[in-house]
Amino acid sequence: MTAACFADLGHRVVVRDIQPERIRLLQSGEIPFFEPGLGDLISKNKDRLTFTLDVQEAVSGAEVVYVCVDTPPMASGDADLSRVWAVIDALKDATHLAAVVVKSTVPVGTGERVRAALDGAGLSHVGYAANPEFTAEGKAVADFLGPDRVVVGTADAATAALVRELHEGVDGPVEVMDVPSAEMVKLASNALLATKISFINEIATVCEATGADIEEVAKAIGMDHRLGPHFLKAGLGYGGSCFPKDSRALSALASNSGYPFQLLNAVIQVNELQPRRAIQRLKSVLGTFKGSRIALLGLTFKPGTDDMREAPSGIIAARLLAEGAQVRCWDPLARLADVEPWASTTRHSSPMEAVTGADAVIVVTEWPEVKAIDWAAAGSVMRRAVCFDGRNLLDPQELAAAGFTYMGVGRATQTPA
Ligand code: UGA
Repeated sequence: MTAACFADLGHRVVVRDIQPERIRLLQSGEIPFFEPGLGDLISKNKDRLTFTLDVQEAVSGAEVVYVCVDTPPMASGDADLSRVWAVIDALKDATHLAAVVVKSTVPVGTGERVRAALDGAGLSHVGYAANPEFTAEGKAVADFLGPDRVVVGTADAATAALVRELHEGVDGPVEVMDVPSAEMVKLASNALLATKISFINEIATVCEATGADIEEVAKAIGMDHRLGPHFLKAGLGYGGSCFPKDSRALSALASNSGYPFQLLNAVIQVNELQPRRAIQRLKSVLGTFKGSRIALLGLTFKPGTDDMREAPSGIIAARLLAEGAQVRCWDPLARLADVEPWASTTRHSSPMEAVTGADAVIVVTEWPEVKAIDWAAAGSVMRRAVCFDGRNLLDPQELAAAGFTYMGVGRATQTPA
């Protein structure tokens, strides 16, 4: 994505990946994952884009190297930086480079270690910058080309000017700062967004206990310009490849320096509880899951993506199976590996097929196809008309009128009208 956007800004970009299948697909004009607009951007700029497995081919003619590898969590919660170091090690002879820029999300302090490694390899004349990514899946191209801000962390003015120049044509301000601060902006931004989500999910729980409606509450909270309307949607918790990993990494970073980041730890705990609470609440209506059939509508961590990483659907399916339910699934894009819990579930090609014969339906991802379901028709083919709306996607009154027992997150349970 970074490569396609830089190519669109007029730069020549060589993309190197270690996975042969990915490179083969990209060379044949296909993209190996779902991202709206990316395929078009690649074909529009194909003359400026090259794909290779060979690191030296990528580096030899380059002026700047962007490090965009993933930094997955290790068992300890710390980010695994082995892929970042593998790239840095491959640059030992790249004396011709003007700069190395790290886009990967890394713990604060990583840039200073990379700088020392470059210096140790005789590359002290090569600039270094942190340039963290703030793009969300599903709108990554628009986020890159029209960002709220571009953050550049560097210790030298020449590298700052170079990275600024690379972004010429991008519609957003460029903020230049020192390297550790840029690294922290990334982790803290994601942690604050995660905090908003866990906060609204806890308010939702209190709403359930007190008779308030989270949708009314969140809407009016968001009208305060100091708070803003974004990331106040109560639901089954945040998933994806970023918030869960980055919040744990920031918590580990704080703990490593002797400071327990209590607020962030609570945010993480609330998020982990959220899908389990949903199961408990549904169980209180069904009595038991033993022998029941439950339909999950939507599996990906959010709509508009095929990404299943840290999706709450995984915990929900595993809990249901452990409690003795049969799990039936529908999702338009999810890439499901043939592993548990998915190996023990059945996948259906339409929402209606998935709900047929079910005792309850759980809305896990707010796909438009789920909103468009004819709920009266769905209720008539289900064994019991029970709906747990994990994203507050549906109209409670409409579901009650269609004969459903309806439960949402932070709103009153409706019984059939
Ligand atoms: C997130 C950030 O939004 C990007 O700014 C950031 O660059 C990216 O992580 C990253 O670090 O690379 P992304 O993971 O694609 O992007 O997804 P979001 O749209 O932020 O949603 C994350 C999760 O939060 C989803 O599971 C979503 O359902 C959940 N969410 C979001 C809520 O439960 N409520 C909300 O109000 C908003």
